[in-house]
Amino acid sequence: MSKSKRRYVCQACGSVAHRWQGQCPDCGEWNTLAEEAPATVFSQKHDLSSGGGAVEFVPLDAPGQMPQRQGTGLAELDRALGGGLVPGSAILMGGDPGIGKSTLLLQAAAKIARQGRQAIYVSGEEAAGQVRLRAARLGLADAPIRLAAATSVRDILTTLNAMEAPALLVIDSIQTMHSDQIEGAPGTVSQVRGCAFELIRYAKENGTALVLVGHVTKDGSIAGPRVLAHMVDVVMSFEGERSHQYRILRALKNRFGAVDEIGVFAMAGDGLEEVANPSMLFLSGREHPIAGSAVFPALEGTRPVLVEVQALIVRLQSGATPRRAVVGWDSGRLAMLLAVLESRCGLNYSSAEVYLNVAGGYRLTDPAADLAVAAALVSALADRPLSAQSAWFGEISLAGEIRPVSHSSLRLREAAKLGFSTGYGPAELKDSVRGMKYEGLKMLPDLVDRIVAKA
Ligand code: TYD
Ligand code: MG
Repeated sequence: MSKSKRRYVCQACGSVAHRWQGQCPDCGEWNTLAEEAPATVFSQKHDLSSGGGAVEFVPLDAPGQMPQRQGTGLAELDRALGGGLVPGSAILMGGDPGIGKSTLLLQAAAKIARQGRQAIYVSGEEAAGQVRLRAARLGLADAPIRLAAATSVRDILTTLNAMEAPALLVIDSIQTMHSDQIEGAPGTVSQVRGCAFELIRYAKENGTALVLVGHVTKDGSIAGPRVLAHMVDVVMSFEGERSHQYRILRALKNRFGAVDEIGVFAMAGDGLEEVANPSMLFLSGREHPIAGSAVFPALEGTRPVLVEVQALIVRLQSGATPRRAVVGWDSGRLAMLLAVLESRCGLNYSSAEVYLNVAGGYRLTDPAADLAVAAALVSALADRPLSAQSAWFGEISLAGEIRPVSHSSLRLREAAKLGFSTGYGPAELKDSVRGMKYEGLKMLPDLVDRIVAKA
């Protein structure tokens, strides 16, 4: 191979460089460039006068195009998928090691197999014996799943082509698969992409729902094949803190449905249990009001979830750079809120360390969390506990206004149901909620007055 033909492919983002570098020029990851075989290039120009078939145009309302969803029997999984598995679709399931991806998929496969449909589970990471042990522990040993330990995509497809197409095919994980048609070790971008392509083609042609398990790198993206996200129909992420019991299944992309519903599970001794009513899960024990703690009625899809936001402020004596540490929220958003609190309310956080934590291992994505975070920060700084019966929500602008958010009354209703008596939120509120006092706040200084003046 001539020198100019060499190509180095970033194993994190798939971008191609022509010489080796320590850092990928595109995504900035270190030590991810690896040499790979050159791509096949067709040198001939397309001859437009001959060859090539006609492309058929169809109307958008052609009948029979709606995908028929099939429930897995795990309601929380179906909910996160947007209503069940679509035959012929490909799903990428990402998540940290040990979070429970294999457990969840084994349970889903067992449910499907017990409904009398064909479910195949191919494990490339664990030996068949290990999967069998796990199944026994989950009480699924009698489920008629077809289990195989294999890593060769050619073997897998040859086997599948000789039998009736399954309703569900789980590949655990795509990084362990390899195809002898493609150069490179398993787990490289070209292998992962090539194997996924072949498996997805099988799924589309045979109406099988395909689930590919993908590992996640330390920064949270699906390892190696960020490119895979473009090839599949649904990208799901299984999240949670391993030290906590709760797991959240979230769709990051869904060609067949909305991406705002979550599935909630609890990891127990005998596998993942579904949590149908998660609204109380993320509140920690709250007997005495503590400064720096605020409750936020979050909304996940159509379900309200009450979450506790905790802030801790530590005054620094020396001139050292103060730390800001965030668990469960966006650190950029925290920096913004601190800046707004400093410039609009005259509070001083710049010489203090700020720690922010969302209880229960929950990750907040709802923009309405701003007001609860601000309330926790002000309460911590002033050392004034908020009432344990209050719930806070609203979006905060750079000007310090408290802006309206979606589904205010749904949030308030859920808080009222769980025994909260006062809601604080944006000034405009369409309809009030029975049993719940509501105080509208217009600007951020109103919040500070509310917390500081009250004591
Ligand atoms: P696993 O499904 O192997 O995770 P992944 O495939 O995402 O790497 O889950 C492994 C963890 O789940 C393991 O650390 C132990 C825990 N676990 C339970 O607590 N209870 C159970 O019944 C099972 C099967 C696993
Ligand atoms: Mg696994």
